Amino acid sequence: MIGAVQRATMFPTLERLYGPLKPLDSGMQSRVYSDVARGLVVKVYRNNLGEHRLEADNMRRAGMGDWVLGVHEADGVEALVTRYFAGHPLLEADVLPALNKLRPVLEALHRERRGAVDLPRLRERLGRFRSALAPYPLDDLFGAIEGPLTRGELEVSAAFCHLDLWQDNILMNETSGEVLVIDWTKAAWDDPMRDLALLKTGTLDLLPRAESIQAALDIVPGDLSSRRRFRAYLAHSYLHDLYWFLMNEPYEFDMQQNTKLRRARHALSHLPEE
Ligand SMILES: Nc1ncnc2c1ncn2[C@@H]1O[C@H](COP(=O)(O)OP(=O)(O)OP(=O)(O)O)[C@@H](O)[C@H]1O
Ligand SMILES: [Mg+2]
Repeated sequence: MIGAVQRATMFPTLERLYGPLKPLDSGMQSRVYSDVARGLVVKVYRNNLGEHRLEADNMRRAGMGDWVLGVHEADGVEALVTRYFAGHPLLEADVLPALNKLRPVLEALHRERRGAVDLPRLRERLGRFRSALAPYPLDDLFGAIEGPLTRGELEVSAAFCHLDLWQDNILMNETSGEVLVIDWTKAAWDDPMRDLALLKTGTLDLLPRAESIQAALDIVPGDLSSRRRFRAYLAHSYLHDLYWFLMNEPYEFDMQQNTKLRRARHALSHLPEE
């Protein structure tokens, strides 16, 4: 139209389909855009690895197919379009109410079993953690996962797991208290106790440590095999976090090491070793 000011857009095709897209958060790095009025969210992937389709498939497998509105290769990016959920990432005060809503969601997710847990992959990952973390006194944590692995206690059937259940990936609606688990890019077949261990280190640990382990014990099945495996994957999760800090935020490593180790040792002491 003559005289009209054209708004520059990075996503002409996507905007033709879905309307004007605004970054969902104010950060410059944002890759999630929304048209809240239309109730949709567009997540943009720039690495061309097909993760938009993978995430859509994972959501369908998790029974969340009705949240998926479309997948696109357009405007030089890959995009997943989902329904918008009016909620905020979990804060400390949300953790216990959210856990009540999450329990049946995770139970349903973990019910279906298929094949065996990929233990060679776990061994390979532990090898990487071992070499990177070799200078630090972490033998008790390594022992807590390597012991059960060697004894065959981790040889169980696999369930579909989210594998990234940290606080940012669990949204809660202020008014209704409903929760939604988002960000299904890492989901895969694995030991459900690994999923619950990630929930503990990534979300429940917003709580003081006594409340955090209590909340974890409330959600982990009471049989000995589950409790032992949860203990093992808890050690694995804390080691993973330390490895992550060493690789990505080395200046924060020392402080994280203190906090994480205190948490880890406290939690492990509440769970059966053998
Ligand atoms: N369906 C949705 N409704 C409302 N907000 C959403 C929705 N999906 C994502 N968000 C918001 O966008 C943020 C980032 O989304 P998401 O976690 O899917 O991407 P990411 O963390 O960038 O992905 P990745 O971890 O794969 O790099 C979320 O923390 C949440 O605040
Ligand atoms: Mg996320």
